Amino acid sequence: MTDNNLNDDWWKQAVVYQIYPRSFKDANGDGLGDIPGITSKMQYLRELGIDAIWLSPFYPSDLADGGYDIIDYRNVDPRLGTMQDFDAMVSAAHQEGIKVIVDIVPNHTANKHAWFLEALAAGRGSTARERYIFKEGSGPNGEFPPNDWQSLFGGPAWERVEDGQWYLHIFAKEQPDLNWNNPEVHEEFKKTLRFWSDHGTDGFRVDVAHGLAKKLDGASMKDLSHWTVHDSLSHDGTHPLWDRAQVHDIYREWRQVFNEYNPPRFAVGEAWVVPEHQYLYASPDELGQVFNFEFAIANWFSQDFRTAIRDGLQAAKSSGSTATWVMSNHDVPRHPSRYGLPQAPSKATHQLPKDWVLRDGTTYEENRELGTRRARAAILMETALPGSVYIYQGEELGLFEVPNIPWDRLEDPTPFRTRGRYTEKGRDGCRVPLPWNSQDAPHEASWDSRFGTGASFGFSPSDATAGSQSADPHLPQPLWYKDFAVDVEQQDPTSMLSLYKACLSHRAALLTSAHNTSVTWLDEGDEVIAYTRQAADNSGYTAIASITNFGKNAVALPEGDLILSSIQLDDPALLPQDAGAWIGIK
Ligand code: NOJ
Repeated sequence: MTDNNLNDDWWKQAVVYQIYPRSFKDANGDGLGDIPGITSKMQYLRELGIDAIWLSPFYPSDLADGGYDIIDYRNVDPRLGTMQDFDAMVSAAHQEGIKVIVDIVPNHTANKHAWFLEALAAGRGSTARERYIFKEGSGPNGEFPPNDWQSLFGGPAWERVEDGQWYLHIFAKEQPDLNWNNPEVHEEFKKTLRFWSDHGTDGFRVDVAHGLAKKLDGASMKDLSHWTVHDSLSHDGTHPLWDRAQVHDIYREWRQVFNEYNPPRFAVGEAWVVPEHQYLYASPDELGQVFNFEFAIANWFSQDFRTAIRDGLQAAKSSGSTATWVMSNHDVPRHPSRYGLPQAPSKATHQLPKDWVLRDGTTYEENRELGTRRARAAILMETALPGSVYIYQGEELGLFEVPNIPWDRLEDPTPFRTRGRYTEKGRDGCRVPLPWNSQDAPHEASWDSRFGTGASFGFSPSDATAGSQSADPHLPQPLWYKDFAVDVEQQDPTSMLSLYKACLSHRAALLTSAHNTSVTWLDEGDEVIAYTRQAADNSGYTAIASITNFGKNAVALPEGDLILSSIQLDDPALLPQDAGAWIGIK
């Protein structure tokens, strides 16, 4: 926890913890995580040492896309709580010095949203349809979609409605795209931003921030580039869908709203665009910060990480913002699993890393020891960097992807909608409810011995506390979660949780200052990422060095105090392969 928490610049070097609310903690025993569950874990979050929580959508939703299909932007899903629960959660967070960021999804609503229902009822040519992207079809009777765009979840990006018109949905058909050429849409979102700001929210994470301005006419793209593959984008702002120049007008407008508040509300954009373009979203007259996903797509190669760090710092500097670092989130396979799979340089192939094999439904065993060892080194590399660190829930426990959830328990739309249905497992493997308590271990279930029923590692209240049996967690937890439960890791000084706590408390004490954002590279060879940063005043050091060794040969550590190491070092002066260390230099 940093004292930046108290000033306007709190976000510039913040450690932000992403909560996927339906899988964080269930307070009422219905098997779904909820807002009171988050409130109940505020002490855990404070002890972890984070500065802010970001909540993925908790709004009313039919869950066609994990809550990113929103029925009502200014309310809490009744299964997750009430507005009073939200207010109580915000005040509990603020009492612990933790800021609260909520997710804003401006590209699409849910198809059950009042506006969409009105548009369906009002018919063609109505002002209600103007809020979305309705078109006549092609072909003699309009029986074919208006163009050949494909949805990111598979199949055409157009759905036909009863009267014969078609509407655009870049994601699932339950997520109709909004028409950002319509001033009413602009007004509606400003109202939503003010609503949550008035409820004490400190900032916003903006979903698909690079996709709102679309050019529909004349564009033909059989396969829309996946929104996480930015290398295939044209980079001049003229791509018909992604990263168009006009999208920035929207964020300049939002900035006015953010600045109505004191301190101004914070925003971070999800924009899967090339680093050179990210700064546009991050500029101070727009969102202020943008996710840099280079770590999330990098494989375990020093070159990939070095480039990611260089580009990220450079882009941040040119925008007047600070860098961001993300290894995992609710859309990508958990990184200890990724690092435990055979690696290929991601940049060399211009493709998603091979580790997406985890999502294709085949059984593929990661090397867990190796994946964990690398994940431990990675968090030391990441948390010493200037900028904001985004941690995805369960990352601090070192959880692996759960790739083998039975098909009939999956929730993510990907498996059901992608071409060649049931060939991709989708994103549920990183969204499995957290294990809080090893004592409350599930019994072996008959339908699949890897998963339990009833008890939920303390995710839901145990029978004794609830007074009645809790429902099964909405996604099944594997039995191996027992070893990763919070109570186990809290007792173990060598656990991933203990390492995360140590990193975050040393980072706060030694490194964090909103204005101390430069790194000095140390030349330790190609296979090593080594840099120093100026140490905080009163830390007793002039600089802190962070060294990560990717190569086979052990490397000599710089002279100084060994502050942290990702593994127990046999020789305190030598750093072996796949290990990291922080050295305090006097
Ligand atoms: C990005 C979100 O992170 C992802 O989970 C979601 O499916 C899409 N946007 C659509 O909202």
